Amino acid sequence: MSAVLEISGLQKTYRSRKRVRRALDGFDMVVEAGQVHGFLGPNGSGKTTTLRTLLGLIKPNGGRMSILGQEVPRHLPEVAGQVGAIVESPQFFGNFTARDTLSLLADAGGVRPERVMAVLELVGLRDRAKERVKTYSLGMKQRLAVASALLKEPKLLILDEPANGLDPGGIREMRTLMRDLAESGMTVVLSSHILGEIQLICDSVTIISAGRRVAAGSVSSVLAQHASTTVKVRLEPGVDMYAATELLRAAGAQVTLERDHFTVGNASNPAQITRILAERQVYVTELTPVAVDLESVFLELTGTAPVDGQNRQVDQSAPVPAAGGWGQ
Ligand SMILES: Nc1ncnc2c1ncn2[C@@H]1O[C@H](COP(=O)(O)OP(=O)(O)O)[C@@H](O)[C@H]1O
Ligand SMILES: [Mg+2]
Repeated sequence: MSAVLEISGLQKTYRSRKRVRRALDGFDMVVEAGQVHGFLGPNGSGKTTTLRTLLGLIKPNGGRMSILGQEVPRHLPEVAGQVGAIVESPQFFGNFTARDTLSLLADAGGVRPERVMAVLELVGLRDRAKERVKTYSLGMKQRLAVASALLKEPKLLILDEPANGLDPGGIREMRTLMRDLAESGMTVVLSSHILGEIQLICDSVTIISAGRRVAAGSVSSVLAQHASTTVKVRLEPGVDMYAATELLRAAGAQVTLERDHFTVGNASNPAQITRILAERQVYVTELTPVAVDLESVFLELTGTAPVDGQNRQVDQSAPVPAAGGWGQ
């Protein structure tokens, strides 16, 4: 496999009169050909900055980038024709039909006029192509945006938050479309701050937090590196569950109480739980590992899981928590 996209040590600092904000702090990313690659990170972690820098819309303060083997931004003119991107949500003229909108773009970009109906078909807008854009739903406008990015038959398609504002049905359609495009040989990079549906379509992911890569690779390898250390514990009926969890907390366990059970988040050695409780004649009736999914890895790595007693702030990236368990 060859890398379609490579970024290493990317730095970007925004300066205004009031403050200096380091948006990218030595960010790395590699995307192999023919993949659907998820670029995941919380709000404010640097995804849009990365994509805008890659496309030559803003200047980095350091680092190297290449697209299809060509160093950018220096060689951007050579590869631009092979890259389709939607980074800022495009504004379309509402009184135009989708077909007219794309015809205009095709004309301006020297694209064969037959491509217009072909891309409308591809994104599922063929039957609505002669309606004005202002009558479109948000999902349809998103699809029109994707269609516009597909006009020049790009090898690499970059979409910033394509699932934003879509309902579950719209997200599912977007997912099918991305898979179809990847199967046709295109490489697709899509950024998102929400995981749910995204993890289902990606072959590989890069997770960014506070301007740095915190995980990367195939979805299965990222999951394997973060095998769950969370276990679910149930006690004999009638036992004072609160008192039992206080014993574990005193030993350093991260306990979350539920109605009829509790979980221990950092149980890399679950035998510790049974030992501590049995010493006080409290017996465990169930102890099960909680399966790890990409969402929990994301929350752990980016520190965006809700914290008791704190409202989550937008544009806040907490430091990456240190690895390790307790009682070892
Ligand atoms: N034009 C700008 N001027 C100053 N700060 C900016 C600008 N654009 C983005 N930022 C800041 O850079 C950080 C990364 O933003 P962004 O790349 O938009 O993150 P994401 O797309 O992951 O939500 C944030 O702290 C954001 O506030
Ligand atoms: Mg963004």
